[in-house]
Amino acid sequence: MKYEFPANFWWGSACSALQTEGESEQGGKSATTWDAWFARQPWRFHQQVGPQQTSTFYRHWRQDIALLKQLKHNSFRTSLSWARLIPDGTGEVNPQAVAFYNSVIDELLAQGITPFITLFHFDMPMVMQEKGGWESREVVDAFSRYAQICFELFGDRVHHWFTFNEPIVPVEGGYLYDFHYPNVVDFKRAATVAYNTVLAHASAVRAFRAGHHPGEIGIVLNLTPSYPRSQHPADVKAAHYADLLFNRSFLDPVLRGEYPADLVALLKEHNQLPACQPDDIALIAEGKIDLLGINYYQPRRVKCRESAVNPDSPFMPEWLFDYYDMPGRKMNPYRGWEIYEPGIYDILTNLRMNYGNPRCFISENGMGVENEQRFIENGQINDSYRINFVRDHLIWLHKGISEGSNCLGYHMWTFIDNWSWCNAYKNRYGFVQLDLDTQQRTVKKSGEWFAATAENNGFTT
Ligand code: BG6
Repeated sequence: MKYEFPANFWWGSACSALQTEGESEQGGKSATTWDAWFARQPWRFHQQVGPQQTSTFYRHWRQDIALLKQLKHNSFRTSLSWARLIPDGTGEVNPQAVAFYNSVIDELLAQGITPFITLFHFDMPMVMQEKGGWESREVVDAFSRYAQICFELFGDRVHHWFTFNEPIVPVEGGYLYDFHYPNVVDFKRAATVAYNTVLAHASAVRAFRAGHHPGEIGIVLNLTPSYPRSQHPADVKAAHYADLLFNRSFLDPVLRGEYPADLVALLKEHNQLPACQPDDIALIAEGKIDLLGINYYQPRRVKCRESAVNPDSPFMPEWLFDYYDMPGRKMNPYRGWEIYEPGIYDILTNLRMNYGNPRCFISENGMGVENEQRFIENGQINDSYRINFVRDHLIWLHKGISEGSNCLGYHMWTFIDNWSWCNAYKNRYGFVQLDLDTQQRTVKKSGEWFAATAENNGFTT
């Protein structure tokens, strides 16, 4: 069977500034929450490896862009570092950072690779966190200024902008489940962070449109389709709650320009609504996007709660549902996440049926693998499991497109093995193997497969 994708389909991969640039203390960059947290609590990070140990894109960018070309990318997403561009968060622009990002953008374009740029990928400048991070409206305003500066500096050449990558993750990690700084566990503060992030997004969209910059602006959301254990109304309701909290809390504002009424009612019922100002509703309505990036890794399987919650305990999402370990589900044996390829199709179908079929693309999909060196054969990682993973997701993606979904591309996480937040190098995702000690890059078998697929705009099974 031949799977051919639409003309001009975006083939590529994604990464982020902090995970690849390295040289954290070079070039005038200030510390992010990750640099500061690592300095304080290195034991929180796998093998105590912090964000200083990367593929050092800050120095190897030309070589890495040549590799992207070799992997037949026609597009590539990375992020800009707020801490590098405006080291004190609100003041002067750092000319060394501007020169660096200009070089990267110009080289991508020279190689025929369209740059997709994210403004914020988890890397809050520490100085802004000290002002309250996303809990503070002052930080929302500072982000809007930073966004505007980026549009002015690079908007003549960058025509695909994304305000945030997976904005729900810093909410979950930093304010609910203790895997990002500032390690708070408090639903109301989490709700405020999520709400202010939507405002920051909408302010950046407003600035982009006011500046009449060419191109389009969007956001990248990690969507986790919520599947109930059964069609019993209590399980279905549990899945609805999980969907409201973890998907629709961002999806609805950015696609419909407003929050789902039942999410607002739910938060009100539990006394968790964030403070709202009179102009917010109009601002959120202006935050509707041109292009949605979809990160898809795994679904969320849930069931109704079977044990009573202690009404005196602080409110948490798990008051509303329980996780469900579905018997027989297919797991990634090397990372522990479920692999469910039809999820990618279900996301696209939901967008087509319920959200007006927006312009979208798969901005991340990938397979993390522990101890991947064990698969080296003749000096090269033979990652046939990753080839199968990509191919099988692409088959479901192709089905979605053939039924009318407006999906314009497929980007993998990620191009080169990179540092990942608290997991550091525990799970490797790259098409290219990185030797951290020598900085040597070696293309894996999946990289060769992807290059052929991108070049042929599809594949045959
Ligand atoms: C994605 C993030 O959700 O997951 C990436 O956008 C991250 O930044 C990736 O690196 C993989 O995460 P992990 O925890 O498996 O290393």
